[in-house]
Amino acid sequence: RRVSREDIVVDKGGHRHFMLKEIMDQPQAMTAALKDRADFANGRPADVMQLERVVLIGCGTSLHAAQVGRHYIERLAGIPAEAESASEFRYRDPIIGPRTLVVSIGQSGETADTVAAMHLAREKGATLITICNAEESQAARVADGALYMHAGLEVGVASTKTFVASLTILQLLSVYLGQLRGKLDAETTRRLVDQMARGPGLIGEVLAEANLYSSLARRIGHYDNFLFLGRGANAAIASEGALKLKEISYIHAEGYPAGEMKHGPIALIDPEMCTVALAPRDDLRDKTLSNIKEVKARGGLVVAVLTKGDDEAASEVDFPLFIPQAPDLLMPLVTTVPLQLLSYYIALLRGCDVDQPRNLAKSVTVE
Ligand code: G6P
Repeated sequence: RRVSREDIVVDKGGHRHFMLKEIMDQPQAMTAALKDRADFANGRPADVMQLERVVLIGCGTSLHAAQVGRHYIERLAGIPAEAESASEFRYRDPIIGPRTLVVSIGQSGETADTVAAMHLAREKGATLITICNAEESQAARVADGALYMHAGLEVGVASTKTFVASLTILQLLSVYLGQLRGKLDAETTRRLVDQMARGPGLIGEVLAEANLYSSLARRIGHYDNFLFLGRGANAAIASEGALKLKEISYIHAEGYPAGEMKHGPIALIDPEMCTVALAPRDDLRDKTLSNIKEVKARGGLVVAVLTKGDDEAASEVDFPLFIPQAPDLLMPLVTTVPLQLLSYYIALLRGCDVDQPRNLAKSVTVE
């Protein structure tokens, strides 16, 4: 699909910032990413059966998408997968070859480190695909195949809707590979596709409560230190939540796998530290709840993203943020949205330039 006039004519759709518009656009971005994925039908089943490993690479927000994607690939396609920052990958001597599928992720398709890492993968003979939003980008030219996000232009420097679109495509790719490799039977595939179709609605439910985040921002926006915790795919979402807050509000924030808290970050907990924990109802919820109790026992403030109706967990935290019950597959997309909204409103409160944060560029085409 070529860039059309509608893509070029941009406005804020009645919102104060592009970032908020783009956060609000996420249900449509997910729908667009799910639509017309005909490329999958033209896959190369023989090559897919030979794959031994999937390596997902990206930078910034796209690295966090890669980290979530790793969980999808392993769980749904049954192929060993890893995620690495493109800036590291390009300077080591990675052991990859024709049986490695390298998946690069990028909004712009122009990030210098990502493109260089792709060239390296190409030289080493890996199968190379890119998930990107910008068509006719360098990434699309280098790759064997491109899976476009179709998210529309993203103007805000901090990525939002293209993150959700990346995750959507990673789900589709994982289900596709799982199906071809015989890991997923027809019925499971159908069930997963039905689940994906519920994504835009679930994200919409969180967005409908955006004003809650604005009032929470007023309560916690003065904290200067934030710790974001999550487990499994939500560990990557914790890193993304911390990155968003850093990028647009200039607040020091760290994202950590909740199980790692005891190995260092716990020493930072005191009444001046705000912890944002992701503990929706899933297999890991109880474990994360134990971490929340450890933070509370040390006098820390806790904001937690919880599944609606989880009153037990809510009673342990200072500020519960409820999200709808979602299938595991969709959970990272749904838990992302409260963190985006929180960052947005905190940055607004602090008078930061949300769409054009200092020192950052939308795409970093030089090293
Ligand atoms: C810059 C932007 C980030 C973005 C990163 C990767 O640092 O400020 O928001 O996540 O580049 O960009 P890409 O286009 O490769 O996804």
